[in-house]
Amino acid sequence: MKVIANWKMHGLKDDFLLWHKNLSETADENLFDDLGIAPPFTLLDECKTYQSKIKIGAQNISHLAEGPFTGEISAAMIKNIGADFVILGHSERRELHAEREDIIKSKLLEALNHNIHPVLCVGESKELYDAKKTEDFLYSQLYGSLNDLNNIKLSIAYEPIWAIGTGHVAKSFEINKIHATIKEICSREFDVQLENIIYGGSVNDQNSKEIFEQEHVDGALIGGASLDGYSFGRIANNFFDIHNR
Ligand code: PGA
Repeated sequence: MKVIANWKMHGLKDDFLLWHKNLSETADENLFDDLGIAPPFTLLDECKTYQSKIKIGAQNISHLAEGPFTGEISAAMIKNIGADFVILGHSERRELHAEREDIIKSKLLEALNHNIHPVLCVGESKELYDAKKTEDFLYSQLYGSLNDLNNIKLSIAYEPIWAIGTGHVAKSFEINKIHATIKEICSREFDVQLENIIYGGSVNDQNSKEIFEQEHVDGALIGGASLDGYSFGRIANNFFDIHNR
């Protein structure tokens, strides 16, 4: 999946039904294979039961397999519900839950062990961006999560922290350049198959076309603008217009 709705801590029972209806009224269902949704854990089952072509994913998993870990949800549990992918290392989790690189690496391994496609999030702060240290920082994040792993398949979401939920989307040419750098780092340094690299941070139906037109942008991870099915549908259409010509 290349265009992913990240619902974060939003959504109650039955919300997916209306969202899917509105999305289907806006975009062509035959192309839904390229779309994904990561609802809260509580809605994973409902989304899966609906049997849409849209891929279903979780926003997080535990780095541990099983045991006395109150409040945690394992890779096996989301696989059991039928999850296709999992978002790992989102900056909100890194910040609010102090997720370090070694923890994210363990989560990556848990996901891979259960045949769940990982979408690894990386991205720099405003301070690092202003200091022109983005590349060094991204390298350290990638190294922390991917070093020593062999022949793994994943997607990467580049999400500058200063662009998430702020309305300040990164400049398209900069996104393209950073994606190219991430691809280059991955092929040079790590034994990974980078399935795609997607951008996240204030993507909406107005700015997504220009972002999707960039050579090294394979899709997007969308928070706020994904909560409304019509809005997500318009973003999906911008993607389909470019990639299904
Ligand atoms: P946003 O969130 O689209 O609301 O900026 C993106 C994300 O955090 O994945």
